[in-house]
Amino acid sequence: MIYLDANATTVMLPEALEAMLPWLQGNHANPSGVYRAARLARKAMDEARGHVAELIGADAGEIVFTGTGTESVNMALQSLDELAGEGSAVVSAIEHSAVLRFVENAKRNVSKIPVDAGGRLDLDAFEAACKTAAYVSVMSANNETGVIQPLTEVISIAREHGLPIHCDAVQAAGKIPVDVRREAIDLLSISGHKFHGPKGVGALYVRSGLDFHTMIHGGGQESGRRSGTENVAGIVAMGEAARLAKIALETGSADRVREMRDGFEKLVMGSVSGCMRNGDITFRLPNTSHLSFESCDAAGLLILLDEAGVACSAGSACMTGKRQPSHVQLAMGIPDVRAKTSLRFSFSRLNTHDEVMQAAEKTIRAVEKLRSVQGSGIGPVAIHYG
Ligand SMILES: Cc1ncc(COP(=O)(O)O)c(C=O)c1O
Repeated sequence: MIYLDANATTVMLPEALEAMLPWLQGNHANPSGVYRAARLARKAMDEARGHVAELIGADAGEIVFTGTGTESVNMALQSLDELAGEGSAVVSAIEHSAVLRFVENAKRNVSKIPVDAGGRLDLDAFEAACKTAAYVSVMSANNETGVIQPLTEVISIAREHGLPIHCDAVQAAGKIPVDVRREAIDLLSISGHKFHGPKGVGALYVRSGLDFHTMIHGGGQESGRRSGTENVAGIVAMGEAARLAKIALETGSADRVREMRDGFEKLVMGSVSGCMRNGDITFRLPNTSHLSFESCDAAGLLILLDEAGVACSAGSACMTGKRQPSHVQLAMGIPDVRAKTSLRFSFSRLNTHDEVMQAAEKTIRAVEKLRSVQGSGIGPVAIHYG
């Protein structure tokens, strides 16, 4: 399989797997214990905390380990919601469902700020909404299009209005530099499986000195910010993945991935008529390509690509058989008919140039085949967006 779905999840690095094994078999101690094995587990977690902190420019004490990116987001927003005064929750219209469903269920007004045709936040609308806001949550990069948001401007506007800010950096961490200090963020969410760590482990950055209200009460682990016995093996593996992601970024991984992605787009777009790119070209993750293929049903294309051994995602979320463009494409004003023809290819530093070019050829052939056989019917398919 040629795996081009890194925004859904990434291949776990062998080094991360190796790092986690001793904590699954051999040392099973509860890291809260006092005996030697427990202290060793705690030490391993502390080292991992340091690596995760370094990936995002934080101090180790500001990292809270969680179960997923979704949990990090919910914990951050729950704290903001509990502690912030009156006013609305201001989010972008293209946030991940973890953010959108949280604020929709919170007992305050929600301002969903529109984006432009390129998928970037409308800063004027954002500034206007901040006047009556209680807190802000804006993602660093979008999971569907890879479009990078104007975070520096967002934060400076939020600061002018004295608003606390959470950033969902689940898709950005490990793919592009993330620096909580430079951006002066209050809370930031990341997830291990998006940067070649294991699934089911995430982290929340909580700025030192920030008031934090936890939603998970219990034995007081993670300095009382997230109770529950920690997933030592998962945390250690995420730490190793974070350490290696930082090294990779410092040694040009983003440029190499961008080169592969650009080569893929050049070949596909140069060979397929009616192939259009969605999302801002300048401000997007180096690993993401979101393409529409005129008059090609995305579900059909996905099936053909799967048969050809290429794994990617459809660009419109079609849940439980009901085909509808994703909220992200809707917010960008992409017409329905085009949205239903779009695919997301997301690459990683573990892809090779050769396999990516093979995938491009297979994509070209899949489009040709579909166009030659496709009738008017568009069949349902269940797709979940990572
Ligand atoms: C932008 C964004 N936020 C949050 C999440 C949730 O992360 P997790 O899968 O670890 O719950 C995802 C996962 O796809 C995501 O892309």
